Amino acid sequence: MELNRRTVIAGAAAAGIAATTLGGTAHATGGRKPVKTLFGKLADGTKVYSWSLENGGTRLKVLSWGGVVQSLEIPDRRGRYANVSAGFDNLEDYVAKTPYFGALIGRYGNRIGKGKFTLDGKNYQLSVNDGEQSLHGGTQGFDKRVWDVEPFVKGSDVGLHLYYTSVDGEMGYPGTLKTKVTYTLTRHGEWRIDYEATTDKATVVNLTSHVYFNLAGEGSGTIEDHELQIAASRYTPTDAGLIPTGELAKVAGTPFDFRKAKPIGRDIRVSHPQLVTAKGFDHNWVLDKGITARPEHVATLRDPSSGRTMKIATNEPGLQFYSGNFLDGTLTGPSGRTYRQGDALCLETQHFPDSPNKPKFPSTVLRPGQTYRTTTIHTFGC
Ligand code: BGC
Repeated sequence: MELNRRTVIAGAAAAGIAATTLGGTAHATGGRKPVKTLFGKLADGTKVYSWSLENGGTRLKVLSWGGVVQSLEIPDRRGRYANVSAGFDNLEDYVAKTPYFGALIGRYGNRIGKGKFTLDGKNYQLSVNDGEQSLHGGTQGFDKRVWDVEPFVKGSDVGLHLYYTSVDGEMGYPGTLKTKVTYTLTRHGEWRIDYEATTDKATVVNLTSHVYFNLAGEGSGTIEDHELQIAASRYTPTDAGLIPTGELAKVAGTPFDFRKAKPIGRDIRVSHPQLVTAKGFDHNWVLDKGITARPEHVATLRDPSSGRTMKIATNEPGLQFYSGNFLDGTLTGPSGRTYRQGDALCLETQHFPDSPNKPKFPSTVLRPGQTYRTTTIHTFGC
């Protein structure tokens, strides 16, 4: 890693680029303040900004709309940067047709069956937006909200605090939920996400990030050659509506076994009923470590062609691995190339889907006086 940062600076000098624009220098100086530029305007005139951050060799662009990671640049083994996240180069596409590219997801990551749940004896009906189900918070989830953004430089860290308050009853959820998400780039180039929320009535919460990764670079084709490892012996099979059946099935002997790193494409075409229903991988892995006080390593993604790697650590009990099954060639990214099935993948740290209706799953209930806190750390290397 250290060697890599030096390589990057040397490469920049050779290319005539001021070394001060690179993360390796931020390491020495303690990081520079994020820079804000106008990205676009919503139909009602609301301005949406793009914030550029850089530290430790990682570059991030974040939108105030949806907290979207619009670009995430990291170097390959030769020091060449690429944007490894799928997205758009304009606000209109994000508003009109995004499949949650790069977005913050709330109040509830993934599906709640029929958008219904009961809490403390009261029945709630949520906004339904995926057949019969409520997906990623409903029709107007946190991905479609304008967040208040506050930049910071703290010691050697650089980052953004993002704030959004969801009012009582929004999308059918009880309680006013005050949400704060912090994106931090550390001096080692790690991207850390800290989620926090409080409520004034009992409610359910499950926040996550929906970045679509392609470590070979956005627009470069399939992720099937990427090698993935997930520290999970079980996963949660789903019904036809992609709602967990409640079973914690063993991965051993199935295509869902990623305990040892393997290429994503190796088993993706196995005619396993769960893969047929989801058109590929779109499941929650039950992380062996369970809920932990501190983030622990749970997954590693590696692209052999570029050498780029990403490790994920979290204190959450679940990981949704979605192999970009519904990308169908109709969306065009910043590179000018379209996204086809399997051209990017999501690794969403979370509590399990449909937990409000599954008493045996870890609880997603948040009550007044409690603070919801989870952390996920992405560590890049090559
Ligand atoms: C879900 C998929 C869904 C996708 C939407 C993922 O988190 O698991 O089922 O289609 O989000 O882009």
